[in-house]
Amino acid sequence: MQKVIISPSLLSADFANLERDIKLVEKAGADWLHIDVMDGHFVPNITMGIPAVSSIKKAAGIPLDVHLMIENPEKFIERFALAGADILTFHFEAVADVLKVINKIKSFGVKAGLSIKPDTAPEEILEFLPYLDLLLVMTVEPGFGGQEFREDCARKIAVIKRHASENLIIQVDGGINAQTARICTDLGANSLVAGNYIYKSADAEAAIQALRKGD
Ligand code: DX5
Ligand code: ZN
Repeated sequence: MQKVIISPSLLSADFANLERDIKLVEKAGADWLHIDVMDGHFVPNITMGIPAVSSIKKAAGIPLDVHLMIENPEKFIERFALAGADILTFHFEAVADVLKVINKIKSFGVKAGLSIKPDTAPEEILEFLPYLDLLLVMTVEPGFGGQEFREDCARKIAVIKRHASENLIIQVDGGINAQTARICTDLGANSLVAGNYIYKSADAEAAIQALRKGD
């Protein structure tokens, strides 16, 4: 089986020392960098945007996994793609025409991801799985780092796994630590986003290894 893709969330990094905190997780064995984009409308918080992605691209040596928690994501796809996003994940709840947005992302040669909030049932998105590179199951209400993992949300992974092709990346985000990572990978997840667990630990390399092992 392919190894689990670890994507540390820069939301938990020190924004005044982003380059240092990018290098820290790259050296520690991270596969991707997770960038949380929030607009203050789709979620009650504001974080980073297009200029941040451009700057991070210059400092990063691994792919940028950009999680759009914004209304009207289709308006911004071209700019995030040109800024250097390698994966663009938008929310099912934020768009009217899911397939149109997926196709727009792919037209820029970027991997397309779709994310579901805690109240969205997996059955609502099954029809889109064949067109996606990644499906992100939120295990917290999106908006803030450091929240508690919701196992009820993680159970959706099993439903998605049953209907997905081998190639679909099933990612989880929210409250991931060594214990909750294991719950998710056992259910079929193969990509883990973690903010606080990695950045608030004294040893990022040990934290990433613990996520992979799930101990
Ligand atoms: C929350 C974000 C997450 C967040 C995860 O809305 O999508 O990526 O940074 O943080 P932790 O791992 O601390 O829950
Ligand atoms: Zn995220």
